Amino acid sequence: MKFNIATIPGDGIGPEVIEETIFVLNKVAEMHGHEFSFQEVLAGGIAIDKTGKPLPEETVEICKNSDAVLLGAVGGPKWDTLPGDQRPEKALLGLREVLGLYANLRPAVLYTALKEASPLRSDIVEKGIDICVVRELTGGIYFGERGRKKEGKMGEAAYDTEAYSVGEVERIARTAFEIAMKRDKRVTSVDKANILESSRLWRSVVIEVAKDYPEVTLDHMYVDNAAMQLVRYPQQFDVIVTSNMFGDILSDEASMLTGSIGMLPSASLAEGNLGMYEPIHGSAPDIAGENKANPIATILSAAMMLRHSFQLDKEAQIIEEAVVKVLEKNYRTADIMSKGMTLVGTKEMGKLIVEELK
Ligand code: NAI
Ligand code: MG
Repeated sequence: MKFNIATIPGDGIGPEVIEETIFVLNKVAEMHGHEFSFQEVLAGGIAIDKTGKPLPEETVEICKNSDAVLLGAVGGPKWDTLPGDQRPEKALLGLREVLGLYANLRPAVLYTALKEASPLRSDIVEKGIDICVVRELTGGIYFGERGRKKEGKMGEAAYDTEAYSVGEVERIARTAFEIAMKRDKRVTSVDKANILESSRLWRSVVIEVAKDYPEVTLDHMYVDNAAMQLVRYPQQFDVIVTSNMFGDILSDEASMLTGSIGMLPSASLAEGNLGMYEPIHGSAPDIAGENKANPIATILSAAMMLRHSFQLDKEAQIIEEAVVKVLEKNYRTADIMSKGMTLVGTKEMGKLIVEELK
């Protein structure tokens, strides 16, 4: 099969991790008879330097007309003094908006080979962690009505509104159940239905959608309890589906259980098959250009691209298994290095993963 991929290397370590990821994807294509065609586009700081804008029109057009977008990272100290709406990060928000990326998927996987990296007690992480947080990304309190009110005994007030429609909840719930079908078939819907009316609607819609997925076990959890349970007993979770703000917080919490920012991928999905795939880390200016960056988060993001945008589940799994094998052979980049392991650079890590693709 043939797919068009828009690549956005961006800034800092972005180009280095994207290069290794393309190397892996080309090998997968060659082994399995697919054709991936890559079109590199500008966004972030490098786009500001070359065009004056963080997200040029041409980039938007090419991304819209691709089968998927693969992004490294944007930003860096060079552009830190620019005003908010002209900064490199504006490119990410702009792409989310124009591509209609309503679902953010953040898997938090703790490989047993890396369990010493977790801040959790070793008896808790003994069995590994494998959670996927599915966060609603284009609704809720971050997009609701907001404002300020002058009146009131206690002085000026400010408000933000959490609002969800049936359609918005149905769409994100369906995404979560579809993902669960490809995993351990368990969904935990996180809300605050004991207090919030929007959460009561959320819960009732999720229950309705669940009827279409009889094989999937659904349970519900209040967000405060979910924050606690993630640390107490993370293995109880498979897929967590939740609103924009709760997902923002819980996905950061879940990812830190694994302790290694250089390992964590993400996907943001639009309706249809289009998605944007990127590591959760930033441009790491402190190590840029030094062949030190861990490319695994980006390589695993590409595996998510194969699974969610191209329906190439088997090929995605092959990449994930290759990563596990390299870790089990004790190769480590500096960010996940520990005693007795073999230290490798960005390029060596890419090469080792390619060698394990089978
Ligand atoms: P960061 O994630 O870039 O770096 C935090 C720390 O983790 C640094 O010490 C870095 O060396 C290390 N690190 C990150 N990724 C790594 C990797 N793959 N391998 C090894 N070590 C890695 O976050 P920071 O320093 O807060 O932000 C740096 C720049 O990146 C800023 O301009 C920020 O705005 C931008 N940024 C961009 C994001 C994106 O493009 N999605 C997300 C987060 C930050
Ligand atoms: Mg956040």
